[in-house]
Amino acid sequence: MTQIIAVLNHKGGVGKSTTAVSLAAALQLSKKNVLAIDMDGQANLTEALGLSIEEEQTVYGAMCGQYTLPLVKLHNGITVSPSCLDLSAAELELISEPGRELILKGLITKAIAKEHFDYIIIDCPPSLGLLTLNALTAADYIIIPVQAQYLAMRGMAKLMDIIRIVQERLNSNLKVGGIVITQFDRRKTLNRSVREIVNDSFHEKVFKTVIRDNVALAEAPINGKTIFEYNPKSNGASDYMSLAKEVLNLK
Ligand SMILES: Nc1ncnc2c1ncn2[C@@H]1O[C@H](COP(=O)(O)OP(=O)(O)O)[C@@H](O)[C@H]1O
Ligand SMILES: [Mg+2]
Repeated sequence: MTQIIAVLNHKGGVGKSTTAVSLAAALQLSKKNVLAIDMDGQANLTEALGLSIEEEQTVYGAMCGQYTLPLVKLHNGITVSPSCLDLSAAELELISEPGRELILKGLITKAIAKEHFDYIIIDCPPSLGLLTLNALTAADYIIIPVQAQYLAMRGMAKLMDIIRIVQERLNSNLKVGGIVITQFDRRKTLNRSVREIVNDSFHEKVFKTVIRDNVALAEAPINGKTIFEYNPKSNGASDYMSLAKEVLNLK
């Protein structure tokens, strides 16, 4: 069985792409076959994994029906479906397409008929538009990164509403895998109180692992490397490996 996980929060800069890349890498290191799909027109996941934003075949072309989902195999074993700057335009271009929320799900079904993946990790754009809806319709689980910052909880009610609507109308299989606190600095009182508020609001839906603020996590993508290739001894590598262990136990 393939587990499909969408990494989602409509806020930007909260650690979605970092989580998607690092989780994909940690699961691959745990001997799982992993596909990472970049659904964001900013293509951060694509570039962080060392691919260009001008790959010949991209999620955009596949979403527009030109070809099947492109599967680019990296030397570290991870398979990537790259994005490109055009992908954001798909939000508008597909607006009158029948079954427009189901396009990605159809592409994934065809991809897993060709090659088995244990995990598919989808990096979502910072919006609740059509691309995000496609990810939610295809997913079994959602992981929500929340930055340990002021106003972190703002917008969470809206996000939970959308998840409920998708569960009702499009994907009854969708579950909240968990909320993960990112960029956490325990020396900061504010970070500690955000952690308490998130725990009080979402209880058992919060992952035990907290991703600490770690500069290696910001440096790795600039070098086109995962945190495990760039600095396997860093706090970032250890935190994301610990998150992956929790994800392996999701039921
Ligand atoms: N735990 C962390 N420690 C330090 N920097 C981080 C951490 N997580 C993310 N970053 C950096 O913060 C910025 C935003 O993260 P990113 O994953 O791109 O967020 P999003 O995809 O939600 O927009 C990036 O520059 C990233 O390298
Ligand atoms: Mg991102």
